[in-house]
Amino acid sequence: MSGAALVLAASIQQKLGAATVILLLLGWLAYIAAHLRRAEKPPAGSEIELAPNRKPYFDDEALEGPRLDRALLAGLVLMVIVAVGLPVYWANEPGRQAGASRGFDNRAAKRGFILFQPADSPVPAGNVGKFGCGGCHGTEGQGGAATYSLADPVNTENPPRQVQWAAPALDTVALRYTRDQLKAVLVYGRLNTPMPPWGVLGGGPMNDQQITDLIAYLESIAIDPQEAQKRALEEFGLDGAKLFDGFCARCHTKGWPYGEPGVPGGGAFGPALTDGATLRQFPNVADHVSFVSEGAPGDPGSPYGKNYGERGVLGYEGGGMPFFNKMLTPEQIEAIVAYERGL
Ligand code: HEC
Ligand code: HEC
Repeated sequence: MSGAALVLAASIQQKLGAATVILLLLGWLAYIAAHLRRAEKPPAGSEIELAPNRKPYFDDEALEGPRLDRALLAGLVLMVIVAVGLPVYWANEPGRQAGASRGFDNRAAKRGFILFQPADSPVPAGNVGKFGCGGCHGTEGQGGAATYSLADPVNTENPPRQVQWAAPALDTVALRYTRDQLKAVLVYGRLNTPMPPWGVLGGGPMNDQQITDLIAYLESIAIDPQEAQKRALEEFGLDGAKLFDGFCARCHTKGWPYGEPGVPGGGAFGPALTDGATLRQFPNVADHVSFVSEGAPGDPGSPYGKNYGERGVLGYEGGGMPFFNKMLTPEQIEAIVAYERGL
């Protein structure tokens, strides 16, 4: 930020503070200058008469007259300043705090944006570093693809084949995962997909601060829930099968992310939902709807180890099953659930 931009961006409090500092400095300089001018060396031995404690001071008349009045007036003025200033300061404090935490998040998101960039991106890195998420997910998180080697599971001596694995757009992940879940996706990656682990715990290169900055960035690019729902309605309407392919198949249908979809809902990262599996897990439709909408009962966002349905235990520390009540309308979720229950 240039100097001029900084001055423009400063709040009223910051401007007042800067003005006070400048005034104090000027006063101090004037004081020094005045004393330097007065500093003629007094003759040796004159300290006896000149020492401050030897000089005659004002008499009672002078002390208790206008001098006292001036001092009292000054005291009153200062007290009024404190009495008015403190409540004003107090009234401003919540706004200041909110601004400070917004500024903190903005700076984190800016660092996250740099971390997100491919190494060859023209964005200046400063002291942050670029880790190349954008190489797969698009430099603005708009989605992309990654080349991936798939081993032949049966004839293991066959060479692996290369597929193009879809890397999802990330402008809605903050609508589908809690911060803790996002952290787990980033720290541990998605094994068996091109998404590598990034956190030290998962064997990756990033410390906690960097992961937190990336989450702040992902939150900063998240679109409005209303906007997400509008898009979903425009693209898929209320058609359960299409909605399932749009939002669920990439985890629940094997081969979907690389264009070779197998049995719909037949199981991949998420369990198979076919042959009435969801009817057995959720005998009540309402429980099924609630699980897809908000995750485990009483624990938004499907946290690790929580129970759901009849015999369900969430098995992924974050980043397993997302929740969809911000991205999809209740009618859309009901349509998907009806489709799933018929698989
Ligand atoms: C080599 C390519 C690649 C790189 C680099 C990469 N990702 Fe991914 N990422 C993927 C793929 C592919 C998926 C989807 C995996 C799947 O099919 O479940 C994914 C999934 C994700 C998800 C979960 C999305 C969801 O909706 O389930 C998040 C969040 C994410 N990546 C963030 C990042 C961030 C942040 C970085 C950089 C630190 C990054 N990725 C780097 C390929 C990549
Ligand atoms: C990012 C991957 C992912 C996406 C996308 C996803 N799921 Fe899941 N889903 C999972 C995982 C993983 C589980 C298993 C729960 C666990 O152990 O954490 C699961 C479990 C489920 C279950 C419970 C199945 C059972 O029998 O226990 C249902 C129902 C379900 N998902 C429906 C959906 C629907 C509907 C959508 C789309 C609107 C969807 N899922 C999108 C990963 C995903």
